[in-house]
Amino acid sequence: MRLPVLTDAFARTVSYLRVSLTDRCNYRCLYCMPEEGVDLVPKSDVLTFEEVERIVRVMTGFGVRRVRLTGGEPTVRKDVVELVARLGRLGLEDLAMTTNGERLVELAAPLKRAGLTRLNVSIDTLDAEKFRAITRRGNLDKVLAGIDSARAAGFRNTKINAVVMGSVNDSDVPALCAWAWAREITPRFIESMPMSDGALFVPGSFVSAAQIRARVEAAFGALENDDASGLAGVGPARYQRVVAGAHAGARVGVISAVTEPFCATCNRVRLTATGQLHTCLALDDDTDLRVPLRAGASDEELARKVLNAVTAKKEGHSFTACGTGGPRKHMVAIGG
Ligand code: 5AD
Ligand code: SF4
Repeated sequence: MRLPVLTDAFARTVSYLRVSLTDRCNYRCLYCMPEEGVDLVPKSDVLTFEEVERIVRVMTGFGVRRVRLTGGEPTVRKDVVELVARLGRLGLEDLAMTTNGERLVELAAPLKRAGLTRLNVSIDTLDAEKFRAITRRGNLDKVLAGIDSARAAGFRNTKINAVVMGSVNDSDVPALCAWAWAREITPRFIESMPMSDGALFVPGSFVSAAQIRARVEAAFGALENDDASGLAGVGPARYQRVVAGAHAGARVGVISAVTEPFCATCNRVRLTATGQLHTCLALDDDTDLRVPLRAGASDEELARKVLNAVTAKKEGHSFTACGTGGPRKHMVAIGG
């Protein structure tokens, strides 16, 4: 089914789909989930692999060729490799995954064979005790071994993501850069976003993109914009590279949804594990695709719902650095 390009009312084109496979996670990161967890959705509401594939296929009709699998933690979804293999047959240009890396030692090679093209791994610090404290249960050694397994399995252009928190891991920014660069991995640092109605926000802990860059510059010297990297403009990260010295040319990305919002170039929509299409991470608006799907809607009817949702996509959001302006939804349920 060939459809028109998906364009919203602000002339932005949707070319990228993030698909959450589960709202469950084997970690409980401070900035993502309340300690007691969140109300989990009933399993019967979670889309089956057939249903996920169907929606992704409808999206490819609109020319969407880049898909990222998220969670919760996508690797806790049973038989995730089988789903990757199914989606791998849809002729996508890019089929990536964002993971906490806990299960990569056993899954990297099968995921690669099934057609996964790239990995982003969340890792906020290289200090094992701190890592455990931030993730409330993570095992740093396992994640580092998982990143090695990913490389051995043939994954390239891997990125690591760190959410930067004042007095928690802001001092770890240089070590994360050096560690990543030594492995041909691109480090990316993320401003903390006030999800969960601000409930996870810790006053005084917000670290801005400017402060993150200053940390990198203090350690490695001046940075310059790296707009020609081929990475720029594809996703929300803004990339810079080290100008001179031992690490000249090394690249770092910053995702600054709060202080330097990038809504004007937003190219994405998100599908939750239960089949709701969210046109913005920062807003609670969604469009249910599961009920129509299960009621027997045709591809054309599903496509119409997607088109209506994208047409109504808002211009931007109002995240603030003091923890307000965000949505009620939890990051763990939408997958970043
Ligand atoms: N703000 C910014 N990034 C977040 N992530 C999770 N919660 C938040 C938040 N509140 C990031 C994780 C992971 C990705 C899925 O989302 O670090 O890389
Ligand atoms: Fe799980 Fe990722 Fe959220 Fe951490 S950030 S709790 S690993 S989904």
